[in-house]
Amino acid sequence: MKDFERDYPDYTETMGYEHGDEPQCNTSDNPNFYEVMETRVARRGFLIGGLASIATGFIGNALTGKAALAQSTSSLIGFTAVPISFDDTVVVPEGYSFQVLGATGEPISGDMPAYRPGANTGAEQEHQIGQCHDGIHFFPIDGSSEDGIIAVNHEYIEPRFLHAEKAGYKGVAHDKRSVVYDADGMRDDDDVRMEIAAHGVTIYRTTKQADGRWAIVADPRNRKVTGNTPIEIGGPVRGSAHVRTKFSPDGTMTRGTLNNCSHGVTPWKTYLTAEENWAGYFANTTQIDQKPDLPREHSRYGVSTNPQGGRYGWHLAKSGADEYLRFDASTKGADATQDYRNEPNTYGYMVEIDPYNADATPIKRTALGRFAHEGVVFAPSVEGAPVVCYSGDDSRFEYIYKFVSDEVYTEGKTDGSILDSGTLYVAKFNDDGSGEWLALAPGRNGLTPANGFADLADILVNTRLAADLAGATKMDRPEWGTIDPNTGTAYFALTNNSRRTQAQVDAVNPRAENNFGQIVRWNYDNGDHTKASFDWDLFVIAGNAKNSAVATGGALSDDSTFACPDGLWCDYDSRLWIQTDMGDTGPDYEGPLKEFGMNMMLAADPATGEIKRFLTGPWGQETTGVVSTPDGKTMFVNFQHPGAHASADQFGAGDYGSAFPDYAGTVPRSATVVITKDDGGIIGT
Ligand code: FEO
Ligand code: CA
Ligand code: CA
Repeated sequence: MKDFERDYPDYTETMGYEHGDEPQCNTSDNPNFYEVMETRVARRGFLIGGLASIATGFIGNALTGKAALAQSTSSLIGFTAVPISFDDTVVVPEGYSFQVLGATGEPISGDMPAYRPGANTGAEQEHQIGQCHDGIHFFPIDGSSEDGIIAVNHEYIEPRFLHAEKAGYKGVAHDKRSVVYDADGMRDDDDVRMEIAAHGVTIYRTTKQADGRWAIVADPRNRKVTGNTPIEIGGPVRGSAHVRTKFSPDGTMTRGTLNNCSHGVTPWKTYLTAEENWAGYFANTTQIDQKPDLPREHSRYGVSTNPQGGRYGWHLAKSGADEYLRFDASTKGADATQDYRNEPNTYGYMVEIDPYNADATPIKRTALGRFAHEGVVFAPSVEGAPVVCYSGDDSRFEYIYKFVSDEVYTEGKTDGSILDSGTLYVAKFNDDGSGEWLALAPGRNGLTPANGFADLADILVNTRLAADLAGATKMDRPEWGTIDPNTGTAYFALTNNSRRTQAQVDAVNPRAENNFGQIVRWNYDNGDHTKASFDWDLFVIAGNAKNSAVATGGALSDDSTFACPDGLWCDYDSRLWIQTDMGDTGPDYEGPLKEFGMNMMLAADPATGEIKRFLTGPWGQETTGVVSTPDGKTMFVNFQHPGAHASADQFGAGDYGSAFPDYAGTVPRSATVVITKDDGGIIGT
């Protein structure tokens, strides 16, 4: 029985709503991670004054052992920390340099259409780099560290910057989410075509030139996988009744991937792109008794009941073309093969793309679950053992998942099909520092037909509901994960928990409204990631010097204060790179994160706990996506949505918030920067 107020609140009106977020949809009574943390701290009897006093007991002891707790200087981190920045610039440490590569609109394929700020067409954008860069990987060509293929995600779009020079946008007040509807309530087809094409993944070859600079190189492997590219549905959901549509009556295909946040790289060197906040792209206006009537596959994920959908109203494109109409998930036809009621069920997956083969059709790997995938991270592959990977569901109070394949890994033979059969688990964190993985499989943890789960496809399409029933621990927005390639330790960023109230503050839990976030990590006996139980602790509790804790004991310092960890990547030498998403902070920002300045990236040594700020970025951006070449001497880092803090009135007056990266009076654009050390050394040393 649906409850209108409970099931269909207007989440855009709630306090915590931020653009790019989906609604909080978890109404289960499962314990949340902070309750577990509090209980664990309380049991150990730690005295909490400043957070720093809990450090040696609560964090940093389960995995590293006492020896590692002693303060020591890292041999991995040799650079001098950069200060917090309030400028519209990129700052890297002394002895390092950067260049811009691969900004939004740069051509990569076709006739290589030139970037025209705010004035390109949809057809041109289909051959140009998309907007809002996020996850990124460098796939070497023949093992080279100077020639490779970049795969980069585009999480969402800012229509006002894509269309800045077009009628209806130029000189008109637009906030970062708004689009132009004509008088008849419809949208311009080419605008919609461009917006869909600016999503997805861009794949392009880049090569180090004779002068040391990196350039985009035309190559038959260059391609876009957009919000409209044909994609196969793989795994247990393939062919099920949940995914049959007018486009694919047998439920084997869909079109597009959207809101591609972070990513993963498989042991067989393909790219997995995550579908994060995809629900808002759809509208479902089906009603019964004048109230919304959504299936659980839509309501538990926040599919919008607004006639314009939760985002850009693509289904309202004037032409009424099928590729646009499909974003209307309302029940219209006689059955599911006559309309797009099931289109949202074909989203919410990890999508495998072969970056080396432009002819390979991408495949949605449904066995890894359906939710707001932030990304995926693979445990080091072991010959003859199952493949294991982890993925977080980035929404308030959602969960962290693990997949263990049925088949075992064989170097040179294993391919993506190994991801089509296996067991999906969800994490339960106990307050004694242990944890367990709860299987989401038919007949296990209450997942039976009697409890509403008919079979494995039903469980996977409704992953969140299955995890609710299994009793998973509600987490506070799990963002990126990474695994130390040398020790096997898994790390996940928990970016913040603004819902903690003052009434919950006590001696052991000193932060009301946790705006700063922390990084959790876990390990296994003998490093065996297939095991059902694990040990966890916190690597760092982020914040300022008075309100933070690090694994070595003590707190963050001027060289290392940060908030809202989001991107994480443990490099080939085990350096842990931490990127922040404090929102669209700009020069006029006022709020609890002001003291941290612009979004940044830091480097940590997991062995010593030392953390240092490595770079700061321009106004309004989020620092997200980092990878190095195999030799560690060239690093690629993304700045997403510079200028996003600009108000509607600012935009209307021609003030775009940030000038990055062109500094030419044109709209700001997301971009990758290439970082090198002037002495040719490894980044971070
Ligand atoms: Fe796309 Fe959760 O950040
Ligand atoms: Ca993120
Ligand atoms: Ca983010």
